Amino acid sequence: MCGIVAYLGNKPARSLLIEGLKRLEYRGYDSAGIAIMNGKLHVVRAVGRVGTLEEKLDQLAARGEYDGTLGMCHTRWATHGGVTEVNAHPHRDDRHGIAVVHNGIIENYSALKTYLKEKGHAFSSETDTEVLAVLIGELYEGDLEAAVQAALREVDGAYAITVICEKEPDTLVVARKGSPLIVGIGADEYVVASDAAAIISHTTHAFALDDYNVVKLWRAAGADGQMVYEFRTSTIHNVPVTPKIEQLELDLEQIELGGYQHFMLKEIFEQPQSLRNCMSGRIDAKDGKVTLGGLANFARDLTRAKKVILTAQGTALHAAMIGRYLMEDLAKVQAQTEYASEFRYRNPIIEDGTVVIAVSQSGETADTLAALHEAKDRGALALGVVNVVGSSIARQTDAGVYLRVGPEIGVASTKAFLGQVSVLTLITLFMARRRMMSADHCADLLREMEQIPAKIERILEQAPRIKRVTEKYIDRENWLFLGRGYNFPTALEGALKLKEISYIHAEGMPAAEMKHGPIALINEGMPAVFIANKGRQYEKVLSNIHEVRARGGHVIAIATEGDEHIADHVQDVLYVPEISEPLSPMLTVVPLQIMAYYAALARGHDVDKPRNLAKSVTVE
Ligand code: M6R
Repeated sequence: MCGIVAYLGNKPARSLLIEGLKRLEYRGYDSAGIAIMNGKLHVVRAVGRVGTLEEKLDQLAARGEYDGTLGMCHTRWATHGGVTEVNAHPHRDDRHGIAVVHNGIIENYSALKTYLKEKGHAFSSETDTEVLAVLIGELYEGDLEAAVQAALREVDGAYAITVICEKEPDTLVVARKGSPLIVGIGADEYVVASDAAAIISHTTHAFALDDYNVVKLWRAAGADGQMVYEFRTSTIHNVPVTPKIEQLELDLEQIELGGYQHFMLKEIFEQPQSLRNCMSGRIDAKDGKVTLGGLANFARDLTRAKKVILTAQGTALHAAMIGRYLMEDLAKVQAQTEYASEFRYRNPIIEDGTVVIAVSQSGETADTLAALHEAKDRGALALGVVNVVGSSIARQTDAGVYLRVGPEIGVASTKAFLGQVSVLTLITLFMARRRMMSADHCADLLREMEQIPAKIERILEQAPRIKRVTEKYIDRENWLFLGRGYNFPTALEGALKLKEISYIHAEGMPAAEMKHGPIALINEGMPAVFIANKGRQYEKVLSNIHEVRARGGHVIAIATEGDEHIADHVQDVLYVPEISEPLSPMLTVVPLQIMAYYAALARGHDVDKPRNLAKSVTVE
């Protein structure tokens, strides 16, 4: 949700910034902009993708104005104000040559704008960010760091910002509250970015800012005339902070396409390997034992837990819903799922023995983070199931388990979903074994889990057939996804995948719910995808299939290998290998991901950058 890259160093900033911005484009892509300090502040902005900004810059580059070694850039996901060049970042103040790029929302921007107008300031955009730039300018008295600190003391809301000023051409000031920001420390250079993907090709030495941290990075000539690069970290109240510098664990290969047409396809095909990584060292199938280092100190709390609340948004919520079924069914603990956005504003009942699990790929989703804070304030044990190491949720939970599926770049979440379901299964078994599950039962399930990567490989081999089936229905504007029990959330996930990247209207629901209203939608040729694998409710799903067929609907069934019988009742069947029902969503979801991908492709959409969306939703 908006990507930021800033650079202060000994190399030309322009190409380095654009390269970094391209790596962050999945965070938002409606407009982009860059500011370079070269004697004066030079700003270029463009509506559209980073590529458009780059073309514009290339045309201007001959003039030499963009050759500086200090600069910053931004790719935007609009919140305040339409998608226009005027609203694109960087934004400038009206007096001192200060420029700001920002990810987040300044909630009290309207009151601040009124105040600043009364002081005689003028505004050119509709954005909250310009208000912040002007506020910093209003408070500027020759010290950019002090002005940023003072301005942020007046601000409500979320921000990751980078700030430069014509009057301090060797200084970069950055700050964070609620939105991520990382400072990479190289030899005579700093690269600041919203995530490690933009830093990794320059340095692996970095620290993440905590909320209310302000970092001043600067250079000055030393006694020998050589430039010396320095930084200091403080709070917005100017209290010094010692940052924790760490090695970034990210491989450049992981964030490149590696021959695939899209990141989504790459990530779908990576699932067998990412699942192996996720389970590695955590499963002892011989003894029926799960080891989760992150939860080791909380085993007793989990054994005695009276209730588990799983909270998340979007795809992560669907994984959480499967987690709920697992926990009730296998660990015999009362479990519920909650949209994080609803949970935080209700008056949730958190009694003694309540465990809240926040599920999130990015670890930065604002709603999920806020729900976590609410749960902690009310005394729950707060756990995280997160992919991005060191992310806000990971750092603010009491404990947690990482997905270990590698960076997910496609906006449509695929391998993270599988990782989330896998980790929630492991947490369930970790609890279940300590509560009432026998070692043998646990060992059986773990052995089956170990076989899942190979089974997914078999599904992936069917991608060309899944493509052909999808293309048969590509002109239909309304689809249904139906499932029962463990595969009701899978149906929701199938519908979400299809709508978010192909813009086809799709609804997911429990198969039994259809006859309570949605059945009225079914007309001749309407595609209905049924998750009809073998399980407790198989016969009931078959009845629901007949109800759709009787009304002219076309059924695509996701069925268990060997179930020849189902082919007589539906138009198309996509088979998945046999597996125990609690583990089945990890297989049944895969054909749905592939269907969504090929539907979007057939409709000519940009699969990795669907309209109106962004990868990480850091605003409420
Ligand atoms: O980073 P998170 O897992 O917290 O993100 C939650 C949702 O925003 C995310 O899953 C979203 O629904 C995806 N675009 C779905 O593909």
